Amino acid sequence: MKTLKVELADRSYPIYVGSGNLAKLPEMLKLFLSARRYILLSDKNVFVLYGAQLIDSCEEAGLHLQQIIVPAGEKSKSIERFTEVMTKMLKLGVSRDWVVLALGGGVVGDLAGFAAASFMRGLPFVQIPTSLLAQVDSSVGGKTGINHPLCKNAIGAFYQPKLVWIDIALLKSLPKLEVISGLAEVVKYGIIYSRDFFHFCETNIEQMLALDSDICTAAVYQCCAIKAKIVAQDERESGVRAILNFGHTIGHAIETVFGYRRIKHGEAVLLGMLAEAFMAVQLELLNPKEFDRIRQLLAQIPLQTSIAEISFADLFTAMKHDKKALDNRLRFALPKTIGEMIIVIVEKENLIADAFEFIQQNGWQRHKSVR
Ligand SMILES: NC(=O)c1ccc[n+]([C@@H]2O[C@H](COP(=O)([O-])OP(=O)(O)OC[C@H]3O[C@@H](n4cnc5c(N)ncnc54)[C@H](O)[C@@H]3O)[C@@H](O)[C@H]2O)c1
Repeated sequence: MKTLKVELADRSYPIYVGSGNLAKLPEMLKLFLSARRYILLSDKNVFVLYGAQLIDSCEEAGLHLQQIIVPAGEKSKSIERFTEVMTKMLKLGVSRDWVVLALGGGVVGDLAGFAAASFMRGLPFVQIPTSLLAQVDSSVGGKTGINHPLCKNAIGAFYQPKLVWIDIALLKSLPKLEVISGLAEVVKYGIIYSRDFFHFCETNIEQMLALDSDICTAAVYQCCAIKAKIVAQDERESGVRAILNFGHTIGHAIETVFGYRRIKHGEAVLLGMLAEAFMAVQLELLNPKEFDRIRQLLAQIPLQTSIAEISFADLFTAMKHDKKALDNRLRFALPKTIGEMIIVIVEKENLIADAFEFIQQNGWQRHKSVR
């Protein structure tokens, strides 16, 4: 098992990356946290697959565990579901000496993290990410929260976990579309931070799609290492952390227009990255040859969802509600080259409109059938 650390003074925490290590988590909890009582938050899909295994190993280790299971999918990041979780925690008698365990993808991690941050003004929590996207991105960095119907992730808190426990073997049961969604975020790290890692992705994209264990372990470790470095420099996104938003200004707006259904987060981010890289070329920040490399790599990740029916007017309205908008002005993290980003305020609506037209014409045509 490999270990990393997110260096944040008294909020520092380790990330463990291994394969087949879920059963070892309770022993680590005993070593690392003094608590005996745990509340496991998971979604139905993940709980059916891995809940019993975790509960059994916790019981064997003498840990007391209660569970709250939410429906799978983005809709669980809602105010209503959050209230329900709070109610269940109160009825179960959860108090400040309990620890929240988030077993699931990014939805569970964001919801459980926000529940942990809010309940009785804060319980410790542990991220056990089970989707590729959660393992490379959402479980690290302490962004927690839920959606508002008008805006994705509008309600939330920066709240760091005590520990992130990654078991690559759990990815074996992940539906292919979720692998695709996570891969978009993997490639993002190469574009925003590391030419070497971008090259690694160019070389190994097929193996990653096939979930080759060694390649995935190396990729997940690299992504976590990059994210840990960025978060350590800028925990609350007042500077460099904004580069992680590459593809997300347009991507989040696509998700909002779809009502957080029908399109996967990573698919929307992939389309957002393509559009935002196109904008960088139009602004003469990014060399067209670099853009082609980005485009060719992204084209190997087969999308499933067409955005043909979305109108630019709806997209633009959603973008203006985004948290990344400052004084109603839209902020983008754009690539200057592969591995280096710049934050730009974009005032010209037609630049964004052209980029959106570009992905409508070029992004979804790569639509392939995936099982
Ligand atoms: N907090 C952050 O920094 C951050 C960063 C990126 C994304 N996010 C958020 O993450 C969310 C997306 O996360 P996601 O893509 O993991 O979605 P998700 O949590 O909905 O998981 C995707 C699907 O895969 C299933 N699943 C998860 N692990 C599985 C496994 N091992 N085997 C079988 N099925 C499994 C889930 O039940 C779900 O149906 C979005 O809400 C996004 O906003 C947060």
